[in-house]
Amino acid sequence: MCGIVGYIGKKTAQDVLLTSLKRLEYRGYDSAGIATLDDDNQPQLARAVGKISELEQVVQQAPHAGHLGIGHTRWATHGGVTTVNAHPHHVGDIWLVHNGIIENYKDLKAELSDVDFASDTDTEVLAALINREYTAGVKLQDALAKALKRVRGTYGVAVFSPREPEHIVVARLGSPLVIGVGQGETIIASDASALLGYTREAIYLNDGELAVCSRDNVDVFNLNLQHLNAHAETIQGDLAQIQKGGYDHFLLKEIMEQANTLQNTLSGRIDPQAGTMRLGGTNLSPQELKTLRHIVIVGCGTAYYAGLLASYYMEQLIPDITVEVVIASEYRYRSFHLPAHSVALIVSQSGETADTLACLREIKKRGTKTLGIVNVVGSTIAREVDGGTYVHAGPEISVASTKAFTAQVVAMLMFAGMVAESHGGNKALISELTQELAMLPAEIDNTLKTHQQTIEQLAKKYAKFDDALYLGRDTAYPVALEGALKLKEVSYLHAEGYASGELKHGPIALVDETFFEVFDILDNWLFEKSIGGLHEVRARGGKTIVFTNATDKDIEADDIVRLNTPIKHLAPLLLNNLQQLFAYYVAVQRGNDVDQPRNLAKSVTVE
Ligand code: F6R
Repeated sequence: MCGIVGYIGKKTAQDVLLTSLKRLEYRGYDSAGIATLDDDNQPQLARAVGKISELEQVVQQAPHAGHLGIGHTRWATHGGVTTVNAHPHHVGDIWLVHNGIIENYKDLKAELSDVDFASDTDTEVLAALINREYTAGVKLQDALAKALKRVRGTYGVAVFSPREPEHIVVARLGSPLVIGVGQGETIIASDASALLGYTREAIYLNDGELAVCSRDNVDVFNLNLQHLNAHAETIQGDLAQIQKGGYDHFLLKEIMEQANTLQNTLSGRIDPQAGTMRLGGTNLSPQELKTLRHIVIVGCGTAYYAGLLASYYMEQLIPDITVEVVIASEYRYRSFHLPAHSVALIVSQSGETADTLACLREIKKRGTKTLGIVNVVGSTIAREVDGGTYVHAGPEISVASTKAFTAQVVAMLMFAGMVAESHGGNKALISELTQELAMLPAEIDNTLKTHQQTIEQLAKKYAKFDDALYLGRDTAYPVALEGALKLKEVSYLHAEGYASGELKHGPIALVDETFFEVFDILDNWLFEKSIGGLHEVRARGGKTIVFTNATDKDIEADDIVRLNTPIKHLAPLLLNNLQQLFAYYVAVQRGNDVDQPRNLAKSVTVE
């Protein structure tokens, strides 16, 4: 979603701002802009609809010379995708970029009836509000704090004024802001990856905090302007991780590197010889683990599907526990009750998803322990949960989530294995799953490399269709849901996932020669039932693709991709890898912007 950057230091601000904005491109945006202050304290503005490359062209025509500036990638919420609505906005001496939503902007706008607003945005209203407070003699941080106290909603903001060229003032509530502390320079961003290459030391601002950032100093305050102690932390990761590494797209890179990233997820957490798994960081006492009776898994989109798949394993592993998996945007508004001895797993790649974060807060209010299953280190969810783990999948730059799904499922599985052990769960199954986890990275690598070309050919064949159904049973059901989501996100094909058993209850009406159906079929006790659904579709003229781990069973379909792997329980993850490749190649065939699909944002920080 929207991205913020800011710079004050010795370098030419426009260069740092544009480079940093490019690092945030993956978050999804539809317009971008920068505003700088030159050495004579003259502000200069450049904005453009479309990619950062469009903004670069605008900047090339009128280069910015200053050493202080702010920049933004906008994902439209209030007001259409136009240059005038793009950030930065300015009113009087206030120059502002903003992430989030000012919910009471209409009321505030009514109060500011003397202002001639140029845009339709809530952000310009905020700029006007700050400007109204910014009267002679008042400092920028005072004006900002005062204005923010009037605001209902969420914000990450960076503000400068030509009257105070020695600093940029930033603040956050519900929208991330990180301040990179360099040598004689300070870099601001909504995502630590934008700081890589400039500095590794960063202060993560907390909700309700404001910071005054100059070249050599960062002072953090609360909104009452009481000084707070802030500590710089070391940013994890490096530049290589956020580059394409020879692949055409980040999406392909992230699919293909899953064997490596999964090694990081597993590292130090499984003991194949002992047949045990252990997930550190959960902050649950042995007694709490033993008495645990209820697990609720919360997520959105792919993270929700990861939770759904993990829940099947949890139920198999832990005999005396109830597992429910919920969609964060629904759960946050439900009158839910969690019984004693519950724990909530909060699943999020970005750690910033607004609905998931809101659920976390609702669950905490009810006194239930929350554990994060999070990828981005230092993210808001990771900071607010009572315990939990990082899945260590590394930066996911492509908007569609792939390697994070695999890592999330595996992290939750290891959590389940640990709980199962303390509940006297099925030791043989825990051990089998541990052995499979140990083999999984190599099997993922093998699966992807063996089938890459076949899947590319399949994609060529099916890219001309407009509709698809994905069907699966048991652990292949969440995989079918995820497969359909991935295809629709990147290829823009209409795709729906269903439990195979639901086929006859409605979706079969859709089957004709214009649809194709993907069947995820596992070689298990439900094999015959899954094949039944396949026959029903074929009898009605449906075009069928089967992804399966059944190597020696007769299957009739238009196309079959058979995994050859000793992995059984975790085969759904391998089927999902095939689907990820399929979605990728269909999107390439259709000439789509694979890494930044239309209308989508990587980190959904608004409701
Ligand atoms: C799918 C996708 C989204 C995210 C969802 C949750 O490819 O990327 O469905 O999974 O927005 O995001 P996180 O995991 O960051 O909370």
